[in-house]
Amino acid sequence: SWTAFNVIEESVEAIRAQVGDAEVLCGLSGGVDSAVAAALVHRAIGDKLTCVFVDHGLLRHGEAEQVQEAFGEHFDVNLVTVKAADQFLEHLAGVTEPEEKRKIIGREFIRVFEQAAREHAGDAKYLVQGTLYPDVIESGHGSASTIKSHHNVGGLPDDMEFDLVEPLRWLFKDEVRKVGEELGLPEEMVWRQPFPGPGLGVRIIGEVTGERLDLLRAADRIVLAELKRAGLEREIWQSFAVLPAIRSVGVQGDERTYGHPIIIRAVTSEDAMTADFARIPYDVLERIATRVINEVDGINRVAYDVTSKPPGTIEWE
Ligand code: XMP
Repeated sequence: SWTAFNVIEESVEAIRAQVGDAEVLCGLSGGVDSAVAAALVHRAIGDKLTCVFVDHGLLRHGEAEQVQEAFGEHFDVNLVTVKAADQFLEHLAGVTEPEEKRKIIGREFIRVFEQAAREHAGDAKYLVQGTLYPDVIESGHGSASTIKSHHNVGGLPDDMEFDLVEPLRWLFKDEVRKVGEELGLPEEMVWRQPFPGPGLGVRIIGEVTGERLDLLRAADRIVLAELKRAGLEREIWQSFAVLPAIRSVGVQGDERTYGHPIIIRAVTSEDAMTADFARIPYDVLERIATRVINEVDGINRVAYDVTSKPPGTIEWE
C-alpha cells in the first residue's frame, strides 16, 4: 500500500543507484515540489548535493528573500543564489508568443544551472527537478498533444548536458505534500500554493518588461494579502493576478483614466489537472479591487476570471 515512508525509502535507493557518488545540482524554486525533491536527494547523497536558487526577475514580491530564509533556516544544504534577472529579461525582450516565452525561460534556467555547476558544484552532470506526474502528462511526453511546455519538462533545450534526476515523476501533489511532511519540511513550505517555474513570465500577456513586472507584482501582492486576510489561502489551490495586454478607460476623481486592467485568477483543485474557479465572496473581491486601483498607479480596472479547467488552464499562458 502507498505510504510516504515507503516512497522515501524507494526514492532514496533509486537516487543512489542513479547517481552513485557523483556531484548533483538541484534547482530550487521555493515551491513544495523542488523542496521535496531536494530533501529526498539530500537524504540520499548528503553534501554531494548543491542547490541553486535562480532569481530570474519573474518572482513575486518578497519571494527571493522568503526562499532564502526558509532554506537557510531549515536545511543544512549547500545553497547558491544566482541573480539573473537581466539575463532573462534581455532574452524575453520583444517576445509575445506563450510557448516561445516558455522555451526561452526553460533554456535560460539551464544556462544558469550549467554555469552554477561549473562554479559551485564540481562540474555536476546531474540536475534534480521537481517534475510531477501531471507535468509529465500535460507536457505531452513527446507526443503531439502538448498543452503547454512546462519549463521543467518540455521546455528544456536539446543541447542540455545534464542527466535529469526526477524523484517525484510518479507522484501527484497531495502525495508530494505527504512525503514533504514525512521528511520534516516546515508546514509553510509544504502547504505553499504552487508557483510555476516561468513565474510571472506566463502571467504577463504579451511582452515581459521590467515596468510591466512591477505593475503585476504590486497588484499580485494585494490579491494574495487580501485572500490570506480572509482566511482563504489554504482552501484555494492557487491565486494570483494576471496582466493582460489591453487598456481600458476609467474615471477617477473626475478625471479620465486610460489604464491597465488586472485579472484575478483563483482556483480550487486536487492535482491541477482539473480546477474550478474559487467562489470568493463578493466583499473580498471588492476589497481587492478597491485596494489595487487605489494603491497601484496605472491600474484602473479589476476583473475576476470565472473559467474552470477545462476549458481554461490555470495559468493564462
Ligand atoms: P496549467 O496552467 O497548465 O497549470 O493549468 C497546471 C499547474 O502547473 C503549473 N505550471 C507550471 N509549473 N513549470 C512549473 O513548474 C511550468 O512551466 C508550469 N506551467 C504551469 C501551474 O501553476 C499549475 O499549478
